[in-house]
Amino acid sequence: MTKTLLLLPGDGIGPEVSAVARRVAGRLISQGLALQVEEALFGGASIDACQLPLTPEVLAQAKAADAVLMGAVGGPKWAGQPYDKRPEAGLLALRAGMNVYANLRPARCFSALADASSLKRVFVDGLDILFVRELTGGVYFGEPRGVETLADGQRRGVNTHVYTTSEIHRVARIAFELARGRKGEVCSAEKGNVMEAGLMWREDVQALRDAEYPDIKLSHMLADNMAMQLVKNPKQFDVILTDNLFGDILSDEAGMLTGSLGMLPSAAIGDPGTPGLYEPIHGSAPDIAGRGVANPCAAVISLAMALRYSLGAPALADTVEAAVEAALDKGARTPDLGGTMTTAAMGDAILAGL
Ligand code: NAI
Ligand code: MG
Repeated sequence: MTKTLLLLPGDGIGPEVSAVARRVAGRLISQGLALQVEEALFGGASIDACQLPLTPEVLAQAKAADAVLMGAVGGPKWAGQPYDKRPEAGLLALRAGMNVYANLRPARCFSALADASSLKRVFVDGLDILFVRELTGGVYFGEPRGVETLADGQRRGVNTHVYTTSEIHRVARIAFELARGRKGEVCSAEKGNVMEAGLMWREDVQALRDAEYPDIKLSHMLADNMAMQLVKNPKQFDVILTDNLFGDILSDEAGMLTGSLGMLPSAAIGDPGTPGLYEPIHGSAPDIAGRGVANPCAAVISLAMALRYSLGAPALADTVEAAVEAALDKGARTPDLGGTMTTAAMGDAILAGL
């Protein structure tokens, strides 16, 4: 059956890198992949056209698709607007509307880029970590929240870290399932030493493992220790399971071990059978937008993740990732990787491997 991919190019370099992902999808379709690609306005582009970053029509289109591939949203043009008129509000509404509660963030180093050490950045050759971060709960969403002024005039700010067992189990289940396709190992991070809800996280994750995933090797690590271990010996990790807050920070930390923002994809997925949302982790890069020099690799690898997790084509996902790797092996480099290639030329180099 033909699957549907909804492309939301967005703003800034979003449309530039999405165009390359679209070309890659087009090549796969011409080679027999049963996929239909749709495109819609999102973020600032949607605000300009219809005063809303995410229209109800586009949300409905996203929920009806099998996968959504987003470019990036935002930019100085919309920065001063009230929050609900900002592109970023559209992204949060899209995530909530699609009920994608597990954020998958690979931190993977492409060996071909080891030579780019002249770029003066960290690079851990052979690194291949997959973060599974809870995305719709925890302290970013918990009630009560807010800032109040007390009788003595000082202010009191509150955010609440809260999780239920079902919220923990559904994201842990995704981590365990993904671990089965990798090394069969999961390391779960929390602060069970000082947080009751952290200890509960640990116990609930362990209970699910014991009941349903006895084949998985589960370990637990305090989040502050993990922050250190990611610098000291990051290759000890394969799948890392975290709550929303710790995962936000630790996955950004791990991402920087791979050298370049332009190489990092992400996915947000929910219940089996519902569409996933795929996007590069980088933003709209207003400083280079319009110059045709953005690195499209993160967008293309995000497409590979969509093929793997939502479009039922894991072998093609491998093919696309191998094509990116082959292009890098042959020396294809955009400026962020120390080269001179344009976005389109990098796209040509990737397509040459398909
Ligand atoms: P950014 O990721 O857009 O850019 C940070 C730096 O990395 C810039 O120097 C940029 O040129 C470079 N860079 C990013 N992606 C690149 C690529 N593919 N190839 C080459 N260089 C690349 O982050 P920044 O500047 O903090 O945010 C810019 C705008 O993007 C803001 O409006 C922000 O809200 C939005 N944003 C959107 C995200 C999303 O759509 N999910 C995520 C992060 C930021
Ligand atoms: Mg972050």
